[in-house]
Amino acid sequence: MPSAQAAAIAVPNDLAAYWIPFTPNRAFKAAPRLIARAKDMHYYTPDGRAVLDGIAGMWCTNAGHNRAPIVAAIRAQAAELDYAPAFQFAHPKAFELASRVAALAPGDLDHVFFCNSGSEAVDTALKIALAFHNVRGDGARTRLIGRERGYHGVGFGGISVGGIVNNRKFFGALLAGVDHLPATYNRERQAFSKGEPDWGAHLADDLERIVALHDASTIAAVIVEPMAGSTGVIPAPKGYLERLRAICDKYGLILIFDEVITGFGRLGHAFAAERYGVVPDMITFAKGITSGAVPMGGVIVRKPIHDAFMRGPEHVVELFHGYTYSAHPLACAAGLATLDLYRDEALFERAKKLEPIWAEAAMTLRGLPNVLDIRCVGLTAGIDLASRPDAVGRRAYDAMVKAFNEQDLMVRITGETIALTPPLIVTEREIEEIFGKVASVIKAVA
Ligand SMILES: Cc1ncc(COP(=O)(O)O)c(C=O)c1O
Repeated sequence: MPSAQAAAIAVPNDLAAYWIPFTPNRAFKAAPRLIARAKDMHYYTPDGRAVLDGIAGMWCTNAGHNRAPIVAAIRAQAAELDYAPAFQFAHPKAFELASRVAALAPGDLDHVFFCNSGSEAVDTALKIALAFHNVRGDGARTRLIGRERGYHGVGFGGISVGGIVNNRKFFGALLAGVDHLPATYNRERQAFSKGEPDWGAHLADDLERIVALHDASTIAAVIVEPMAGSTGVIPAPKGYLERLRAICDKYGLILIFDEVITGFGRLGHAFAAERYGVVPDMITFAKGITSGAVPMGGVIVRKPIHDAFMRGPEHVVELFHGYTYSAHPLACAAGLATLDLYRDEALFERAKKLEPIWAEAAMTLRGLPNVLDIRCVGLTAGIDLASRPDAVGRRAYDAMVKAFNEQDLMVRITGETIALTPPLIVTEREIEEIFGKVASVIKAVA
């Protein structure tokens, strides 16, 4: 428990100035949900209530909260080197972390470009794709293909290729020359599938239609999430990603997997690409790279793409892109300690082993009032609830508030879907606890 003085300092008395992202600010400030500290599987409120973390922060604290080796690495790094210029200079841990990340990635995904978030990772990948075609003298390839219901962060590139209407409709015309594959979800065909649904691989063939419409010579890249997370946990149909890869190969399109959520063990492998045996041309990552402890993102790039830039006079910058905080020393130190933990505690394998137990527990919610579908893959689950006739999204919102206030459980919601994605250190007993609490909440909002 924090001391009385620390607790008093930790609780703000003016909530007005902070404009909270992706949050209904007025409702939040009328009844705030404040977090003061965390350890392993739990958050603690300022008054010391333990709240079970069913969502790994926001799909990011895969190793659990405030793990001692990560905390120690960040402390030591802050004392040793706070910052080194990201351009024209570098520090040793940046190289070490890049090598470690590349070693985890499949195939010849050998080079890592660092940034600070998933949104920056996506915009970086899209820019590398465009520039790659450009430096090869194929600069007419400018179109970008995303997918309906995709979430690729909130930069203009990401919302342009993304397919979540509320993230797009307020923000003007977005990038020109973007098209979208259809979403892969169909409740009639897929409801209550455990893991990848059997139906839906053919939806990848829509890329053929898009190519026929625009011509391959105008298309730079295709970006998809191997499991669409933020829209409500939509696993890829069996065979879908393989088909997408084949069509991209046929037409010379760069395939980008956005693994900001699926990276670092969420689906039981370092990257989902490995789970599906499909090697994309680039992988974006963020979140789990530091187990959420310090902001970091990045793009892993296949060797031939990277190498295409390595020409011309040697004193000239090859890619005019980067961030002040690319490969920040604190993030690199946190990343290295996090990867050590993943390896030493075999957390990716743990996620894989727990997957059937998790899926079994998730499906116990079937038959509860208003449950329309349950989807799960790896250590993720999405539970769709029926909307109240007068207020779309209200039932799931009430469920989240009740889970936190009355069940001491943190869940995420998107629309009318409850999403669950615990830290990979979750125990079988805690899995039972999570779904038991979610069941109580679903009954309470019936
Ligand atoms: C697949 C995917 N891409 C990109 C992002 C954006 O990441 P960030 O919020 O770090 O910018 C997210 C965030 O949830 C994501 O799920």
